[in-house]
Amino acid sequence: MAETQSMLRALRGEAVFPPPLWMMRQAGRYLPEYRELRRKAGSFLDLCYNPDFATEVTMQPIRRFGFDASILFSDILVVPHALGRDLNFEEGRGPVLTPITASEIAALNTETFHVNLASVYETVRRLREKLPAETTLIGFCGAPWTVATYMIAGHGTPDQAPARLFAYREPEAFRKLLSILAEQSAAYLIRQIEAGADVVQIFDSWSGVLDEASFQAYCVEPVAEIVRRVHAAHPGVPVIGFPKGAGANYASYRERTGVQGLGLDWSVPLSQVLALQQGGAVQGNLDPLRLVAGGKALHEGVDRILRTLGQGPLVFNLGHGIIPETPIAHVEEMVRLVRNAA
Ligand code: CP3
Repeated sequence: MAETQSMLRALRGEAVFPPPLWMMRQAGRYLPEYRELRRKAGSFLDLCYNPDFATEVTMQPIRRFGFDASILFSDILVVPHALGRDLNFEEGRGPVLTPITASEIAALNTETFHVNLASVYETVRRLREKLPAETTLIGFCGAPWTVATYMIAGHGTPDQAPARLFAYREPEAFRKLLSILAEQSAAYLIRQIEAGADVVQIFDSWSGVLDEASFQAYCVEPVAEIVRRVHAAHPGVPVIGFPKGAGANYASYRERTGVQGLGLDWSVPLSQVLALQQGGAVQGNLDPLRLVAGGKALHEGVDRILRTLGQGPLVFNLGHGIIPETPIAHVEEMVRLVRNAA
C-alpha cells in the first residue's frame, strides 16, 4: 500500500515537495487555547499526566494549522521522574529536580518505570485513534546526556558545567547513569511505538557544550544504543536525532548513531546540511526568531531552506522550539509559504 504519511516518506529518503511540516513545541504558550487549558489543569505536570488534557493539547495545533506531524505532549523529564526523582515545574523558572549524587545512581528505581508512565502510553493510544491517518504521530524522549544534565544540576544552566564536571570527576558513576537512561529511554520509546507512535525523536538539546571526546562518549554512543534497541524491536520505525548545537560534530553523529532523520538547529550552514542530507532526511532549521519577526525575515528564511534543501529528503521545521511570543499570524504565513512552494 502506498504510504499516506508524507513525513514517513521523507524519513525513508524520498524528496517530498512541498516537504512535510511541523514545529517543535507546536503545542504551547503561543496558543490561547493552550494557555486556557494550562490554567484549568493546574500544574504543567498535571497537563502531561492527564490523558484527556494531554490529548487535547496535542490536537490543538493540528486543528489550527493541519501540520503533517503531531508530537505527543509531554516532557523529556518524565523519565527521571518515573525513575523516582522528584520533579517540579516552577512558574518562570522551568524544571526543578533534587540534584542526584554519585551514590544515588545505583538506587534509581526501574521496577515501576512503565507503571509510572502508563498515562503517557494511554495518551499516545488515544492520539493515534484521533489523528487523521495521514498525520504522523511522533513519540519522543530526551537523550541520556541532556536528561542527565538536568538530573545533576537540578535545573537549567547556561553551559551545563555541573554535569560536565560530574562526568570528569565521577566517570564511572556518570557512565552508569547514561547507561540506565539509555536502556530505560529505549524501553520508553518502544512502548510509545507499541501504543501507536509512527516515528520517535530523541532530543539532545545540550549537545553543543561538549568537547569532541565527550560528544562521542556521551551523545553519540548512548543515542546509538537507543537506536539499536528501538530497531531491534521495531526495525521499520524511523528515529530522528536532534543534537542541538553539535556544529562540526553533526557529521559523525549522522554516521554513527544510525538515525534516519537528523534535526538541525539554525546555526548549521546550509552547505554543511547538503552534505548531511546525502546520508538521509534532515529536519529543520528555521531560526525561531525569524518566525517571531515575520515579514521579510520569515520569507527569506523559508525560501532559503526550501531552495537549498527541497531537492532532497526534508522535513520542514524550526531550528528549536517555537517562542511563546510568536504571533499566530506568522505561523499561518509560514504554513502558507511552505505549502504553496513550487
Ligand atoms: O509540542 C511539543 O514539542 C511537545 C511537548 C514538549 C515539551 N517539552 C513541552 C513543554 C517537548 C518535546 C519537550 C521537550 C523538552 N523539555 C526538551 C527538549 C527540547 C528543547 O526544548 O530543547 C527540554 C530541554 C525540556 C525540559 C523543559 N521543559 C524545560 C527546560 C522547560 C522550561 C522552559 C520553557 O519553555 O518553559 C520545560 C517546560 C515545557 N515543556 C513547556 C512545554 C509546553 C512550558 C511549560 C508551561 O506551559 O508552562
